Amino acid sequence: MDPTRFDALCPNGRAAAVVGLQWGDEGKGKYVDLLAPGFDAVARYNGGANAGHTIVTGGQKYALHLVPSGILHKGVRAVIGNGAVVDPFQLVKEIDALAARGVDTAALVVSIRAHVVMPYHKAMDARLEAVMEEMGKAQGGRTTAIGTTKRGIGPTYAEKALRMTAVRMGDLVRGGSILEDRVRLAIGVHNPAIVASGGEALDAAAIIDELAPIAERLRPFVTDTTYLLHDVLRAGGRVLFEGGNATLLDIDHGTYPYVTSSSCSALGISTGSGVPGAMLSGVVGIMKAYTTRVGLGPMPTEIHGELAQTIRDRGGEYGTTTGRPRRIGWLDLVALRYSAMVNGVTHVAMTMLDVLGGLDEIRVCSAYEVDGVRTERFLPDAADLARATPVYEVLPGFAEDISGCRSVGELPARARALVDLVERALGVPVAFVGVGPDREQTILNLPQGGVGR
Ligand code: IMP
Repeated sequence: MDPTRFDALCPNGRAAAVVGLQWGDEGKGKYVDLLAPGFDAVARYNGGANAGHTIVTGGQKYALHLVPSGILHKGVRAVIGNGAVVDPFQLVKEIDALAARGVDTAALVVSIRAHVVMPYHKAMDARLEAVMEEMGKAQGGRTTAIGTTKRGIGPTYAEKALRMTAVRMGDLVRGGSILEDRVRLAIGVHNPAIVASGGEALDAAAIIDELAPIAERLRPFVTDTTYLLHDVLRAGGRVLFEGGNATLLDIDHGTYPYVTSSSCSALGISTGSGVPGAMLSGVVGIMKAYTTRVGLGPMPTEIHGELAQTIRDRGGEYGTTTGRPRRIGWLDLVALRYSAMVNGVTHVAMTMLDVLGGLDEIRVCSAYEVDGVRTERFLPDAADLARATPVYEVLPGFAEDISGCRSVGELPARARALVDLVERALGVPVAFVGVGPDREQTILNLPQGGVGR
C-alpha cells in the first residue's frame, strides 16, 4: 500500500496515533502494521506486557506484547516510551524471538524513564487478585477483584507513584548502588504484606543477581526517547503512537475501578512520551463491529449463550496474553461516542465486520436507560454503568461472505449500513474496514486530502 496515502492523516514533522476505542483487542496491531511504513518511528506510551498484538503478515503470525509492531518494518524506529512499564525478562524473550525469525531488532529503543516490572510485581498482582477475590466471596459473593492479566502492571505503576522503591530502565542498565538500594528497599517494604498474606518472603540479593545478565542484554536499547522522538519530528519525520490496552480501560477515563493502571487513550501520549498532544495531526480510533471485554466490570451490551459463543469462535475471541475467552457484546455506540470524544478521533477503523456475517440480525446500542431515564451519555464510573440497560437499534443481518471485499462499494448494502451508522454517530470517516485477519483483508476508505487536523 502506498504510504503517501497517509499524508492527510499525518503531514511531515507531525505525529498520529492508533488507539483502541473499546475494552481492548480491537485489532490495533494490524492497523499500526499497515500504517507503519508511512512513519519514521512507532512509539508505545503506556502499558506493558498486558497488551497483546497479533499481526498476520505475509502468512506469518507474530504475537507481540511489549515491542511496538513497527519493528516488523525496515527503517522504522520502534520506541518504548517513558509511560510504558517494561518486564525486562519478557522484553529479552521478544527480542530473541523476533531475531530468530530474521527481524532486525536494532531499531528498538526503550526509554531510560520507563519503569521496570519486577518479579515481585507479578507475584503481588496475582496475590492481590486472590486476596480480593477471597474477601469478595466472604462478603457474600460481591466482586472485589479486577481480573487482571497478572503481568504485574498495577503494582509497577503503584511503585512508580511510591517513588523511592521504584526502578526505571535507566537504573536497571546502570546497575550499581542505586539499583541495589531500590530493590532492597522495595523488598523491605513489600515482604511483610507478602508474608502476611501467606506468600513466601522474597530475597533481594537473588533478584539483583537474576537481573544482572538481563540488564547487560538490554543496555544497548536504553536511551532518552523523549529527545529521540523530538529529533525525528524536528527533522521532518513522522511518529505514530501505538496505544496499548484501550480507552475504556484508561485509569482516568475508563470504567474505573475495572481498568488497567495506565493512560491508554490518546490523552496519555503527552506524559507517556514527552511529545505534546498539539503535535498530533490524526488519531485513528480502532473499534470492533461488536464489543468484547476480558476481565471483570460492567458491559451493558453483553450477550451470553449460543450467539456469544458463535461470535467468540468466529472472531477467535480468546486473549492474546492470557488465553481467556473474551466476553462478547453488541456494538455500543454510547461508549464509542464517548471514546471518540476523549481521544479527539479523526478517523475510525472498524474491524472484524466479517465476523458478523450470517447473523439474522445485528443489534447496535444507541442509548442507555438508567433508572427509567434515557441517556446518550456514557457513564464511566463502573457503579453507574452497571445500572445502564441498552436501548437497541436492530439492523437486518447480511449473509454474504465479505472477506474478499476491497472497497466500501463492494460491501453488501446491509453490511455498509453498519459502517454508515458509525460514521453518522461519530461524525468522522470510517477510513478502514477490516474484513479478515490478513493485512490485505482491509478496505481502505481514506478520503484523499485534508481530513486530519
Ligand atoms: P491489568 O492491565 O493486567 O492490570 O488488567 C486490568 C484489566 O484490564 C483487566 O480487566 C484486563 O483483562 C484488562 N486488560 C489489560 N490489558 C488488556 C488488553 O490489552 N486487552 C484487553 N483487556 C486488557
